[in-house]
Amino acid sequence: MRCAGWSRSSSSACWPARWRSGRPCGSIRPRRSGAEVKARVDAEKATEPRVAILLEGVRKRYGRGDTAVDALKGVDMRVAPGEVVGLIGPSGSGKSTLLKCLGAVIEPTAGRMTLGGELIYDDGWKIPDLRALRRDRIGFVFQAPYLIPFLDVTDNVALLPMLAGRPNSEARDRARELLDALGVSHRAKAQPSELSGGEQQRVAIARALANRPPVILADEPTAPLDSERALGVMKILEQMAGQYRTAIIVVTHDEKIMPTFRRIYQIRDGRTAELSEAERAGLARGA
Ligand SMILES: Nc1ncnc2c1ncn2[C@@H]1O[C@H](COP(=O)(O)OP(=O)(O)O)[C@@H](O)[C@H]1O
Ligand SMILES: [Mg+2]
Repeated sequence: MRCAGWSRSSSSACWPARWRSGRPCGSIRPRRSGAEVKARVDAEKATEPRVAILLEGVRKRYGRGDTAVDALKGVDMRVAPGEVVGLIGPSGSGKSTLLKCLGAVIEPTAGRMTLGGELIYDDGWKIPDLRALRRDRIGFVFQAPYLIPFLDVTDNVALLPMLAGRPNSEARDRARELLDALGVSHRAKAQPSELSGGEQQRVAIARALANRPPVILADEPTAPLDSERALGVMKILEQMAGQYRTAIIVVTHDEKIMPTFRRIYQIRDGRTAELSEAERAGLARGA
C-alpha cells in the first residue's frame, strides 16, 4: 500500500488549526516517502492533544414524561489520537445514540464532550456551527456504504472536500490519494453499483477520511462483510488511524474483529465500562 501524501505543509503549527476546523492548512503536495511520512507523523504526535475524544457523564433522554427513555445515563469515554477503540453492547443499549450525540446529529441531555481539546458540549452546545463540525471534524462510516449512485467513485470521495470549499481539482487529487491508500484506485472511475461490497466499504472509508477529520465514528462497519473482508476493513482503519492520527470508535457486534481492538468499551443499560484484558480475551475466543 502506498501512503497518501496530501498532508498539510508542515506539522506542528498546523495541528491546533486542524483540531479546531478540520481543514488542512497546507496545499496538496506530491506523494512523500515513508521516512517523510514518519517524520510528519512524529511531529504531529508531539503537538497533538493527548485526548481526541473525551466524554464525561453524557446523558440522553428521548421524549418526556411517562414515555421518556433514558438511553444514556452517564457515559464516560476517552480515546487518544491514532487510536481505534471498540464499542460493544446488546441491542438497545445506547450505542447508536452515543455515536449520534458525539457526531452532533442529536443533542445530549446533559454532560460534557470534548473533541481534540475543545469543549464542544457542556450541558448545551458550545460551538455555533454544528454543520461545520460534522462536515470538517467528524467522519461517519455506516453498515451500508451509502455511496451516491450517480457519482463515480472519485467524486463520491471528493464531494465533501468540495462542499467544505476546497477547489475541485484539489478535492479530486485528495480523493485519488485516499483511494490509492485504500487499494481501490483502480476503481476510481467506476460507478458504485459496479463495485463489490468490500470495495464499496473502502470507498466509504475514503469518503469519511476526505476532510481529514480528527475523529471517525463507525457504526457496524463490517457487519455485511465476510471474515476476510471484515478483517481487511479493520486493518485499513488501523492504518489510517496511525497515518492520519485519527481517533476511531467502531461500534460492533462482530466477534471476528474483536481481537483487533486494544481497548473495548462496553455499554450496558446506558452506562459504559472499559473491558479488562481477560474480558477482551474472552470475547476474542467467542466466550
Ligand atoms: N428517536 C428515538 N426516540 C425514542 N427512543 C429512542 C430513539 N432512538 C433510540 N431510542 C431508544 O434508546 C435506546 C437506545 O437505542 P440505540 O441507541 O439505538 O441502541 P443500540 O444502537 O445500542 O441498539 C433504546 O431503548 C431505543 O429504543
Ligand atoms: Mg444501533
